[in-house]
Amino acid sequence: MSTTEQTAPLLEVRGLSIEAKGPDGPLVLTEGTDLTIRPGQTLGLVGESGSGKSMTGLAMLGVLPPSVRVRAGQVLLGGTDLIALPEKELRAVRGGRIGMVFQEPRRSLDPSFTVGDQVAETIRAHREVSRKQARNLAVELLDRVRIPDPGTRAGQYPHQFSGGMCQRVMLAVALAGEPEVLIADEPTTALDVTVQAAMLRLIKDLQEELNLGVLLITHDMGVVAEVCDDVAVMYAGQVAEVGPVRDVLSAPRHPYSAALRDATPDECRRGELLQAIPGQIPPPSAWPSGCRFHPRCSLAVDACREAAPDVLQLGRTRVRCARATENLTENSANNSTNNLTENSTNDSTENSTNNSAKNEGAGHGAR
Ligand SMILES: Nc1ncnc2c1ncn2[C@@H]1O[C@H](COP(=O)(O)OP(=O)(O)OP(=O)(O)O)[C@@H](O)[C@H]1O
Ligand code: SF4
Ligand SMILES: [Mg+2]
Repeated sequence: MSTTEQTAPLLEVRGLSIEAKGPDGPLVLTEGTDLTIRPGQTLGLVGESGSGKSMTGLAMLGVLPPSVRVRAGQVLLGGTDLIALPEKELRAVRGGRIGMVFQEPRRSLDPSFTVGDQVAETIRAHREVSRKQARNLAVELLDRVRIPDPGTRAGQYPHQFSGGMCQRVMLAVALAGEPEVLIADEPTTALDVTVQAAMLRLIKDLQEELNLGVLLITHDMGVVAEVCDDVAVMYAGQVAEVGPVRDVLSAPRHPYSAALRDATPDECRRGELLQAIPGQIPPPSAWPSGCRFHPRCSLAVDACREAAPDVLQLGRTRVRCARATENLTENSANNSTNNLTENSTNDSTENSTNNSAKNEGAGHGAR
């Protein structure tokens, strides 16, 4: 289900820009990010390595590395701007109203405490319960994240758990403060494929059970297709396209979304060759002028090199591409993004209808 238009936002990121200290002054890492997370909805944030996904997640929680800071923007949780919140109040939100799971659970878990103690400690930090109650609740949570024999396992240390089980413990820690929002940054990347699938299923089940809003950060379009309702595709520090997963995957409007999709193994297209995306994502110090994707885009024209594209609202999708409303049949007949061709052809009526929505989405739109 895409809840894009149906429920009020739980968490909104508005115009978020992040910068790092550079040798020649501030270096912009992400720019003008708008995202919306709704209750019971999973928003996927997808893109190649270095596109700015983790920085966005860390900024939302106020835990950016020391040399990195928010340059502009808001992160609104129930109307409160977390960016403007004093650290003490933010600490109550972190692990409280917002839970988090990161890629490497072993680094996040303390090797010198039992997993039960670590879950119980988070419970006590955010809820008024006794030590004994916290311990019992910790065992319940370990059971909820499907750790077998949770009573015994609660007394064991992280090194006694497999990677997949550690990730489940991290999920229990993230849920210990009874969050409304869960931010999961590559929660399955370090796991083998079958364990990955089970972990994703668990996150999805818990989300439905607890009506959580989830931000799932991943580089894998396959994961997005599997568990997300909406998706934001990030490239070189900007959101290239955002909208319902069904729309973005079946009819990507941005050549980068199309290329990412076509580079992803898909059961339905078994036997077809995967399309590699030519070139590499540039570092923030070398972002090109105009559209940042233009050096890798087979649809690029001179205008793309000269001016940064506006954000267009097209149906339920917002797209940062100057050519998103065109019928690109001839231009793209023989290139790696030719799926866009088909979609553009099929959607040409809608495209022209929605042309007038230009720019509407820069701060609002498909959220
Ligand atoms: N501590 C830091 N100081 C300065 N720049 C950083 C720092 N950490 C990361 N960056 C840069 O910020 C940009 C965005 O990094 P980020 O970690 O958000 O990417 P990502 O999309 O999460 O990639 P990955 O898929 O590899 O996790 C990258 O260019 C990265 O080199
Ligand atoms: S603006 Fe031009 S270069 Fe950028 S994605 Fe669109 S077609 Fe490609
Ligand atoms: Mg990352």
